[in-house]
Amino acid sequence: MKPAVMITGATRGIGRSLVYAFAQRGFDIAFCSGREEDCFLLSEELKKRYPDNRYFARACNVADGAQIKTFVTSAQDALGSLKILINNAGVGVFDSFTNIRAEDWQRIFAVNFMGPVMLCEELIPLFLQNEGYPKGIIVNIGSYSVEKYVPGNIAYAASKGSLKTFSEDLFCEYRKDGICVTYVSLGSVNTGFSRRFSANADLKMTPSDVAEAVASVAELMLGSKNLCISQLELRTTTPPEAPGVKE
Ligand SMILES: NC(=O)c1ccc[n+]([C@@H]2O[C@H](COP(=O)([O-])OP(=O)(O)OC[C@H]3O[C@@H](n4cnc5c(N)ncnc54)[C@H](OP(=O)(O)O)[C@@H]3O)[C@@H](O)[C@H]2O)c1
Repeated sequence: MKPAVMITGATRGIGRSLVYAFAQRGFDIAFCSGREEDCFLLSEELKKRYPDNRYFARACNVADGAQIKTFVTSAQDALGSLKILINNAGVGVFDSFTNIRAEDWQRIFAVNFMGPVMLCEELIPLFLQNEGYPKGIIVNIGSYSVEKYVPGNIAYAASKGSLKTFSEDLFCEYRKDGICVTYVSLGSVNTGFSRRFSANADLKMTPSDVAEAVASVAELMLGSKNLCISQLELRTTTPPEAPGVKE
């Protein structure tokens, strides 16, 4: 039996494709997003298409520590040992520094940074109890906007930059214990999230491109005692259409 994977922000965009990529590979999956109804509908779809896997789907706001605790405990009870965590849920606040309010900074850091931190706090002790190597895999979905200035992206890029630093240090802290941490830097992907930058879907990667890459990398790490792919950068083959447009 394949180990169970937990995916946040799973009902739309990249998260939804991640759920399908892991379901197709025979994994049991715990997933969440902000809306219970969307989670239920996706779970019903999956049960029809991949009936051999088990699914645990709940609403869970990753900015809320109490909701995370309940989600992780219930997922563990339902699916047994979890081995992979994909911190995918993310939000943006896109405006100039002058216009961004304190509440916006707090919300974007709560979801994009503290959410992954709190999920790691809950899951690492569980991973350490797993048999064999690797004991656990953590994938943090980041952004190429950390590497490159994009006007209006200051709060989002800062939150993902913090996630990148956190990922690298967490990797260094836990690699000796058999926990792999992978930070994924993404260029533009065709989802509702990225439409504010450019409507031209042809220039972007598809959510499925990203999901297949992440699932393949996770499988490679699961299959090796000593391999940890600590960073992955996925970028579109088409150069940006105009200065300031995200790659
Ligand atoms: N699309 C891109 O071009 C791009 C580029 C670089 C990085 N990324 C990153 O990739 C990840 C996925 O982005 P996407 O493009 O797939 O976004 P998306 O289409 O907007 O989907 C985001 C998903 O996250 C869920 N979500 C949002 N806030 C949440 C919260 N507080 N708690 C739990 N779930 C939450 C959403 O559901 P609800 O709204 O119902 O909660 C939805 O299922 C994000 O981390 C994003 O920063 C995207």
